[in-house]
Amino acid sequence: MDIKKLINDMTLEEKASLCSGHDMWHTKAIERLGISAILVSDGPHGLRKQPEGSDTFGINVSIPATCFPPACTTASSWDPDLLRQIGAAIGEECLQEQVSVLLGPGVNIKRNPLCGRNFEYYSEDPFLSGELAAAFIVGVQAQGIGTSLKHFAANNQETRRMTIDAIVDERALREIYLPGFEKAVKQAHPWTVMCAYNRLNGIYCSEQERLLTSILRAEWGFDGVLLTDWGACNDRTAGLAAGQDLEMPGGLDYNDQSIVAAVKSGLLAESVLDRSVERLLTLIARAQDNLRSDYHYNADEHHALARMAATQSAVLLKNDENILPLATSAKLAIIGNLAKKSRYQGSGSSLINPTRLEHALDVLGERSLNIAYADGYDRLSDNVDEQLLADACQVASSAEVVVVFVGLTELAESEGFDREHMRLPANQNILIERLAGVSENLIVVLLGGSPVEMPWIGSVKALLNMYLPGQAGGSAVVDLLFGNANPCGKLAETYPLRYTDTASARNFPGGPLTVEYRESIYIGYRYFDTARQDVLFPFGHGLSYTNVTYDRMALSAHTLTDKDTLQVSVIVTNSGSRAGAEIVQVYVRAVASTVFKPEKELKAFQKVLLQPGESTAIELTLDRQAFASYDVDTAAWLVESGEYEIIAGASSRDLRLKETVTIQSADCVPNRLEALADYYQLVTNKGKITDVAFAALYGQPLPTSNETARKPYTANSTLGDIKGTLIGRILYRIIINLAMKANTDGDLERQLATRKMLQRMMAEYPLRSIAISSGGMLTYGMMEGIVMMANRKFFRGVQKMLGSLPKRDRHLLSPR
Ligand code: BGC
Repeated sequence: MDIKKLINDMTLEEKASLCSGHDMWHTKAIERLGISAILVSDGPHGLRKQPEGSDTFGINVSIPATCFPPACTTASSWDPDLLRQIGAAIGEECLQEQVSVLLGPGVNIKRNPLCGRNFEYYSEDPFLSGELAAAFIVGVQAQGIGTSLKHFAANNQETRRMTIDAIVDERALREIYLPGFEKAVKQAHPWTVMCAYNRLNGIYCSEQERLLTSILRAEWGFDGVLLTDWGACNDRTAGLAAGQDLEMPGGLDYNDQSIVAAVKSGLLAESVLDRSVERLLTLIARAQDNLRSDYHYNADEHHALARMAATQSAVLLKNDENILPLATSAKLAIIGNLAKKSRYQGSGSSLINPTRLEHALDVLGERSLNIAYADGYDRLSDNVDEQLLADACQVASSAEVVVVFVGLTELAESEGFDREHMRLPANQNILIERLAGVSENLIVVLLGGSPVEMPWIGSVKALLNMYLPGQAGGSAVVDLLFGNANPCGKLAETYPLRYTDTASARNFPGGPLTVEYRESIYIGYRYFDTARQDVLFPFGHGLSYTNVTYDRMALSAHTLTDKDTLQVSVIVTNSGSRAGAEIVQVYVRAVASTVFKPEKELKAFQKVLLQPGESTAIELTLDRQAFASYDVDTAAWLVESGEYEIIAGASSRDLRLKETVTIQSADCVPNRLEALADYYQLVTNKGKITDVAFAALYGQPLPTSNETARKPYTANSTLGDIKGTLIGRILYRIIINLAMKANTDGDLERQLATRKMLQRMMAEYPLRSIAISSGGMLTYGMMEGIVMMANRKFFRGVQKMLGSLPKRDRHLLSPR
């Protein structure tokens, strides 16, 4: 494809039209010039390709694909190579299905444990997130399939996700929210990046020049296509000017026309449009070159890989008296409906239709083990059912060992809404308490995409966290329980004792307009360790069926300059009797520092498999970045002179070896102790940051976020905002009815979960996005009419609506 020539031959209208999709999943074709459409599809933990002519809400069945464990699970493997393999397998499935770009991975930071979409993200730590995302991208793209690194940036909650303004100080952005993206971009070169829905410090991410061009492209060297999240486009021309290329989904030509008008009036230079068209044509050419018509993946091999991923990602959180692994002869009670019908993946746009599905109870049955079973709870409600509890206790009382499967059901956790609390459903907590009353040998198997409080932890002997184990989770959990496999994963996030212990809890989910990230850089263990706050399970924690000792640490130097790199070697030995993997974590701690800093930060890690008795030396490298913090005044990473501890840990709280280095640096780090005292005193203030301290850190006045700021209504008002008006009520009812009618797939639980998600999501849809996502049913002009009516300009609104009814002959609405 001669791209330059094509751009020359294209009309202004054709160029503009290429900058939005054709429909939900395709880019536009321009037949006159031989430009074909390409197909993009969700991920990220499997391929979610919807058949042609599917619903416009993107909720219903997709073609069968391997459902790998999602990011919350695979992150606990701490194994980039596993992520690469999964990426490669999903890439193969894309090849077979002629999908050119997989929409993932998601690399947003788990700022708060209640974020409904945490299951789709890797970690609270940007270094770990970035390494894993980069490996996944390398795997997918090695197959000639593109990825879309998402959601750029600071998209850390589902509540009002399409309009919320995340107020984040520059240092937190640079040290916490951007580095995962940066690492993935620099190491793996994703073909595309997806802009987030939300605003960041006042400006929508989809039109933020600084984020999209200055940082992503100029600083990090990203040269691919920037596309919007589905319905995230706010001001089309501003988006294009800011460096965003493709608006998704397609179906309305309103924004294409606005691009044409902006160029004609001189508001937008045609060269800016050409720049985006060039990137899009490059992507299309690349995708076309890699399309294969005859590719078939091996579903058995992919299922086996999904099983290995689930096995290697499981985290053994507790194992008193080595009650696990179980003997096959043990008389077992298996309790909990989640054993019979597993929760194995998250809900929402990443929902996969698995090629096959294993449930633990079936697998146990196939292996002819000595088991009795009881449901224990109704998974569709929180209500306690005394009969189910009594049956469960009866079954448990005659067993030697009781294994209870509990977890977050689909109704508790999904894309589209945040969790309301951090507890398990009440009926499951009570079940565990009752079972603890009848059995001393109680083992909990936990399923779900994010941490839960565990008031019962003292009364259970073991806790195996499977997270969401994907389609092969059934055999994985059975292998682990009986010792056919060794659980060697470690937490990629902290499990707090109580939700309220979390630093961001005071400011989550914010609203109605803004959410303040007052805790700044103190996310996850960075907060808990600095504030010396007890936790339930620390970041990086995970036991196994073997025992690994850390024997010696050696550094390549004990004094160095900030330009040098430091080699760290640690000898680890498997002193147990089973093969097992250890994940060695290297943290760096500034002994004293002028700038406020977390107590320590993860700067390197490595997973190593060790046979019984085997010893090995792990070699890791720390460069300048491992010691640097971001200085906002000079917009540079600075290293303070002084002593730093290099710590090798089995978790952030299980520190095994330590050495000290002295660094000499010419950097001059400003002292801001006076203005930012709150950030230096977490031990005493337990993360309570005053308005004054946050405003000083933020460096500009904090925006207001009150109810009155919502009026007058605009295109950015949500359906929920205008629900109090007559037109709002009517529109809400129509849209919810349409969505509910489309919600026909899956069993009752899936439909209830989808209903809950749609109800929450639709209420939070800005009106402009409803128009974009309506596939042409609601034109932009009609939406403007609705806004007028909501603002009590009824007659003008009706007039506008009538004058803007969809013209069925528009080329965008006709079939391709
Ligand atoms: C999600 C994206 C997803 C897209 C397409 C959006 O609502 O935020 O992650 O890729 O839909 O389904």
